[in-house]
Amino acid sequence: MFVFCRLNFYAIEMTDWKKNIDLNRLPKHIAIIMDGNGRWAKQQGHLRVFGHENGVKSVRDITEGCVELGVKNLTLYAFSTENWSRPKEEVDFLMSLLITTLKGEIDTFNKNGIRLHAIGNLKSLPAKCYDELHDTMEKTKTNKRLNLILALSYSSYWEITEATKQIALDFKNNKIKEEEITPDLISKHLNTAPFPNPELMIRTSGEHRLSNYLLWQLAYAEFYFTDVLWPDFRKPHLADAIYDFQNRERRFGKTSEQIAAEQTQ
Ligand code: FPP
Repeated sequence: MFVFCRLNFYAIEMTDWKKNIDLNRLPKHIAIIMDGNGRWAKQQGHLRVFGHENGVKSVRDITEGCVELGVKNLTLYAFSTENWSRPKEEVDFLMSLLITTLKGEIDTFNKNGIRLHAIGNLKSLPAKCYDELHDTMEKTKTNKRLNLILALSYSSYWEITEATKQIALDFKNNKIKEEEITPDLISKHLNTAPFPNPELMIRTSGEHRLSNYLLWQLAYAEFYFTDVLWPDFRKPHLADAIYDFQNRERRFGKTSEQIAAEQTQ
């Protein structure tokens, strides 16, 4: 009897992870900095790459969680432009992990309505990686439930610099006038142009930094930091972050009174 009750309790815990979330007020876009893989591996006496391998399990669980909830856009910081300076073996491992993960996930993406996208300096990726990425994006392009956006060889400095170059060229060629250079035009030149700005940014592992991630797009996002290391991050942790988001007052520069008045209108 005792065993039965315990099993039953765990079953409820597993299926009820989203019970505190208001499904009508989900963030339209969640951006995550998946941090702490190396420390997680080290804590268990393993090499750093073991942490990355286990990080993929969290990627799967959180992606599945977003589909179950109905979150429409999820961006994951998988590799920054600065990460190229890591030891070559770790970089090589991450690139081949990306290839094998993508290869293995295409069917799951299609079954679950997940469309893969990528942002960043994709041409700097090894050819095999670039090709696999393109193949997966092509094979998932009609899916509509969730946009899964991988930030790869990405940094905001790179992205904003590229956008600035394009705008400067258009200005030089008389395609745009000075007064047409607006925040909206800049947004349209960023890699993230097809997606709404993230409303919730989560960083795991206790670090409180943005690390060159979506600096423009996160202007009005709510930030959520947790000490949980990425390989341990699962749906209930995602639910905690969304619950926290749903209990914040988002004022966008206005006063509390103005926000309250708008809500009663
Ligand atoms: C940061 O942890 C993590 C990364 C730089 C890589 C993230 C990659 C994955 C989660 C796996 C691959 C993802 C996909 C989408 C296939 P860290 O290594 O900086 O950890 P540390 O701060 O503890 O050293």
